[in-house]
Amino acid sequence: VQPIDVLNLKSLEKRAEAVIGRGEFGYISEGSDDGYTKARNTTAFNDVQMLPRVLQNVENPDQSTKFLGSSLASPLMTAPIAGNTLAHSSGELGLARGAKEAGIMMAQSTFASKTIAETAQVSDGAPYMFQLYMPKDWGYCKYLLDEARNAHASAIILTADSTLGGYRELDVINHYHLKGKIANLAGYNTGESGAGAGSLFKESMQKLNLGLIDKLADYSGLPIFIKGIQTPADAAAAIDAGAAGIYVSNHGGRQLNGAPGSIETLPGIAKVVDHRVPIIFDGGVQRGTHVLKALALGADLVAVGRPFSYGLALGGWQGVKSVADHLKMEIYIAMQLTGCQTIADVKKMHVTYDFSR
Ligand code: FNR
Repeated sequence: VQPIDVLNLKSLEKRAEAVIGRGEFGYISEGSDDGYTKARNTTAFNDVQMLPRVLQNVENPDQSTKFLGSSLASPLMTAPIAGNTLAHSSGELGLARGAKEAGIMMAQSTFASKTIAETAQVSDGAPYMFQLYMPKDWGYCKYLLDEARNAHASAIILTADSTLGGYRELDVINHYHLKGKIANLAGYNTGESGAGAGSLFKESMQKLNLGLIDKLADYSGLPIFIKGIQTPADAAAAIDAGAAGIYVSNHGGRQLNGAPGSIETLPGIAKVVDHRVPIIFDGGVQRGTHVLKALALGADLVAVGRPFSYGLALGGWQGVKSVADHLKMEIYIAMQLTGCQTIADVKKMHVTYDFSR
């Protein structure tokens, strides 16, 4: 466990590849099918331009923000990722500590390799959300929601885009299956374990529908965010059905390949959401300027997936913190150079975009 030198987030992938097993690295890094959507997530940011203001009397810009009552040092979250012990033995405990030390939100996956309770012990009241893959077994679902509430989760993120796993060819080539127990499942029923990615998805429901939102909210008493929203129509329907937040994402291009870059979908969604509920955004974020662009196009919180896994692989919790610190430094520069003193200023910043090129 040690701090890592970060030149930029993109360069972490190659360095992490050298320290993670081939199968594990393939599982973490790849997109589905030909990887178009994964690649487009990052390149589409180039089709958004920020119009910098000058003479705005900006000095020492402040990127702190509030999200669901939590004070954050920066509008960032570690995206929920399955099986973090693939990257580092500390798994979600390392992510939780790194996120806490960096003052950012952490989201924990249902398919985490550490239990909610273990993770909460490290997190110890720091900003935390729990991501739910809707189990087939309602008893198990209630167990997860109870654990999340005990862990002081500020919200439940229901992931709606993964009713089965996308087709990922490196996993086929490497004969790779997400190994080991799903810690939370083992905690509920020690007789069961998830032997492979296929069986993971057998634990969760294929037929998801809008009626689940009320059911989860009623039982848990927590705000329900829907993750995997890519269209204005689905955002509007989710809010009408009781969603307390929208999470714009295409799962890092690991599910449906052929979807647009995630940032391309954000302006239309933000328009129909119209500030009624908060918006979390993820997909391809590698730069401070990407964070500013997402905020300016309507996001309230920006999540980052793989770069934190690579930071975890390279330095444990300290590596996670190093990645967050680097991103904060880039955000600081970008805020100063766009003439934004606060995150509220970033959200009002003028941006142009044309995704048709
Ligand atoms: C994910 N993601 C994910 N999402 C989710 O809701 N539950 C999960 O268990 C997982 N697991 C997972 C594993 C791995 C290895 C990756 C890379 C991603 C998706 C994740 O939350 C997020 O949407 C993307 O990672 C964002 O894209 P970037 O930042 O990785 O480009």
